Amino acid sequence: MRSLPVWSALLLALACRSVPGSAPRTIVHDIHSFSEPNRVRVTHASLDLTLDFGAREAHGTVELALERHDPMAPLVVDVHDLAIEAVTAKSGTSLVWDLGDEVDRLGQPLTIQLGSRDRSVRIRYRTTARGEAMQWLAPEQTADGKQPYLFTQGQSILTRSWIPLQDSPGVRITYDARVRCPDGLTAVMSAERLGKDSLGAWRFRLDHPIPPYLIALACGRLEFRALSRRCGVWSEPSVIARAEAELADTERMVQAAEKLFGPYRWGRYDLIVLPPSFPFGGMENPTLTFATPTILAGDKSLVALVAHELAHSWSGNLVTNATWSDFWLNEGFTTYCENRIMETLYGRDRAATERVLEIGELEEEMATLEPWQQILRTPLEGHHPDDGFSNVPYTKGALFLSRLEELAGRERWGAFLRGYFDTHAFQSITTQDFLDDLARELPDVYAVVDVALWTAQPGLPADAPRPRTEALTAVDEQVAAWTDGIPPRELSTRGWSTQQWLRFLRGLPQSTTAEQMAVLDEAFGFTRSGNSEILCQWLELAIRHGYGVADSSLERFLHDVGRRKFLRPLYTALAQVNPERAKALYRQNRTRYHSVATSTLDGIVGVKG
Ligand code: BES
Ligand code: ZN
Repeated sequence: MRSLPVWSALLLALACRSVPGSAPRTIVHDIHSFSEPNRVRVTHASLDLTLDFGAREAHGTVELALERHDPMAPLVVDVHDLAIEAVTAKSGTSLVWDLGDEVDRLGQPLTIQLGSRDRSVRIRYRTTARGEAMQWLAPEQTADGKQPYLFTQGQSILTRSWIPLQDSPGVRITYDARVRCPDGLTAVMSAERLGKDSLGAWRFRLDHPIPPYLIALACGRLEFRALSRRCGVWSEPSVIARAEAELADTERMVQAAEKLFGPYRWGRYDLIVLPPSFPFGGMENPTLTFATPTILAGDKSLVALVAHELAHSWSGNLVTNATWSDFWLNEGFTTYCENRIMETLYGRDRAATERVLEIGELEEEMATLEPWQQILRTPLEGHHPDDGFSNVPYTKGALFLSRLEELAGRERWGAFLRGYFDTHAFQSITTQDFLDDLARELPDVYAVVDVALWTAQPGLPADAPRPRTEALTAVDEQVAAWTDGIPPRELSTRGWSTQQWLRFLRGLPQSTTAEQMAVLDEAFGFTRSGNSEILCQWLELAIRHGYGVADSSLERFLHDVGRRKFLRPLYTALAQVNPERAKALYRQNRTRYHSVATSTLDGIVGVKG
């Protein structure tokens, strides 16, 4: 940040004092944003957009309301792959603006000179084909195949490619929106729905301040089913019945979470099940979780994802990482909270099972990560936030909190958590803020645990809790029996859960042959599995062990599914076993995938768009 002239720092101090109780918090510097929110800060965004499916662009205006802490400073907002057309003051007069040099993957600063009285600016712009936040789908990329579809993905720093604003998680804003789209399509956002206005535009409003990465929009042929008074699900018509059945426990999850973490403060909790090309499992957009259809297994076995995205309503959306280096405050807390919700609804064993599987994945991945990537408070200097994305913020983060719980006792820890969410509600905070809370509220715990080892060093500390669960021990015994030559039909697998099957598949020896794969497949029907997690795990084994019978299933999966978590291991295995085949399959499907997925996969497969 540039240093403030002495007199404007004085003015800032005076301004902070003048309204008792509402002093603007100083926002910590964010290396992934060009904005200077301690000088001029955006507090509200008012969007007015038209969606043009033919041109695959959105165009219109955003009006940004401003708080001016340094009266001489310009407004600086983040822009990435947007076409800026005009910038005006409230009065309509044009303002002088300038787009700075483009920085790789961060975009450009848009600097706007303000008149002394300006308290808002209006930016007219259009999105471009290069912008990464918006994925425009052709009808054949949707479940129903009838209408085009659009969805946005803001996290981590993509919002700037569909809205020019201060795209930093430390800058919280409220927003409202007016969205025009073709007849027959419905627009939904991460906000309260206000219906259609007289001009046929969908209206939205969110009165709680959120970080900009949580502004989200989806538009397509949509149907809605209520799950309870405050919960419901949106999807394309052909998916809605399956979605409704799978997500039937949602209200109970919200109630469990409220008991554990304090009131749900966002009004409604709805989900939208997106078309299969959605690159993530879920995204915690406030009031409206975005979810992949690959969680619809038919038996609720993959609903931990709902518990996870719901938990973000506390950890992440209510209390937000101030910078992307503090990402574990979002995901580690959420993974911990998700597990508590799962335990409440489905019991200790189920929750422990999920945790043990997560630890297995963490340890496997940790061995492949550079030391800096293993650090909870991740040093991201010179890196894009997504370079720090791994199981470390999730599982190592959750294990740190479980360790604290172990030391504090569940009751005191629960009280601490509720206090944490309450004290920092609607704030963006740093790892140090959390550690300060811990030292203050649970000094005995703070004295015992090595917080520097946990938050500032690579590796997994030796005091990480390691739960055990009978359910998985039983699986390991059956894997051993199979390795010893017991035929599959004689193994004790009756009543196994999805999680047990995953453990089984992950435990199969490297030396498994294609013939053995065929025997397993005949007994258990993995190639025909309707469970995406099991199928993906099986297909990876099929690639590695040369089991060609699964080829057509693999090709269909790579064509239909855009979830990065699944595509990454499959293309990695393909590229190792048969690089030419990997390239050929990837070339066939690449345009169907979201940029979030292709930016990971291009490197793995060695193909450039
Ligand atoms: N917020 C994340 C998704 C995300 C993280 C998007 C970083 C962009 C950058 C979301 O809550 C998440 O963690 N989703 C997981 C599922 C979850 C059950 C672990 C996913 O998408 O796989
Ligand atoms: Zn998450």
